Amino acid sequence: MIKLENISKIYPLSFSREQKAALQNVSFDVESGEFITFCGRSGAGKTTLLKIIACQEKPTDGNVFFEGEDLCRTKDKDICSFRHQIGFVFQDYKLLSYKTVFENVSYALEVTDYQNGGMDEEVEQILELVGLQNQTNSFPHELSGGEKQRVAIARALIHRPKVVLADEPTGNLDPYHTRDILKIFNKVNEMGTTILLATHSKEIVNSLQRRVITIEDGEIRSDEAKGRFIL
Ligand SMILES: Nc1ncnc2c1ncn2[C@@H]1O[C@H](COP(=O)(O)OP(=O)(O)O)[C@@H](O)[C@H]1O
Ligand SMILES: [Mg+2]
Repeated sequence: MIKLENISKIYPLSFSREQKAALQNVSFDVESGEFITFCGRSGAGKTTLLKIIACQEKPTDGNVFFEGEDLCRTKDKDICSFRHQIGFVFQDYKLLSYKTVFENVSYALEVTDYQNGGMDEEVEQILELVGLQNQTNSFPHELSGGEKQRVAIARALIHRPKVVLADEPTGNLDPYHTRDILKIFNKVNEMGTTILLATHSKEIVNSLQRRVITIEDGEIRSDEAKGRFIL
């Protein structure tokens, strides 16, 4: 479904002539329906990797294929339709503070797709999936961190994407809410959505017991079907 071939990403450093290699020669395949954890210390290159898969950053070298299509050579207008096939979840939620739970999710939908109605039901269904059906009118400041992240997951799912990319999604949460969020990702994965999750947490890697790709200094150190935390 997704194929990375010899991906490198070199960032120029401002105020100096030096460069920083965030990723070097990274290659792997993702099958549809997989749940992969990218594990590595802070600065290892996890965020850069997810951004390249989401087409938010262009690699310096190498190719990314999504369902056989070379994303680095796709025209900008076609990238839009590709973006709907991917949902992104961030560590810091990125909710709109002046919008309710319902509005934060519905805002992500384009009205033109729902000329015959059905938009509200779609949002309600997704909010029920993440267990927020009783808080649809709350504002972000009225929610716990775990609840905020559930809104962000609902927003990422609203286009019914084939892939969800989650960058340290439990980085700001306590162990109780972390378990809660991982359960939701497991449920979404069981429904057929491919999940790529980046984390530096040993507990998460060991509790998921799924394929683990360990990244160290921008390179893949290991890729194991039922991996454990090895750093
Ligand atoms: N926009 C940027 N400009 C320069 N260096 C960057 C930029 N983004 C990331 N880096 C560097 O690339 C490396 C990998 O960063 P990142 O992908 O954010 O790692 P991680 O998510 O694993 O913590 C780090 O050394 C970081 O400082
Ligand atoms: Mg990061």
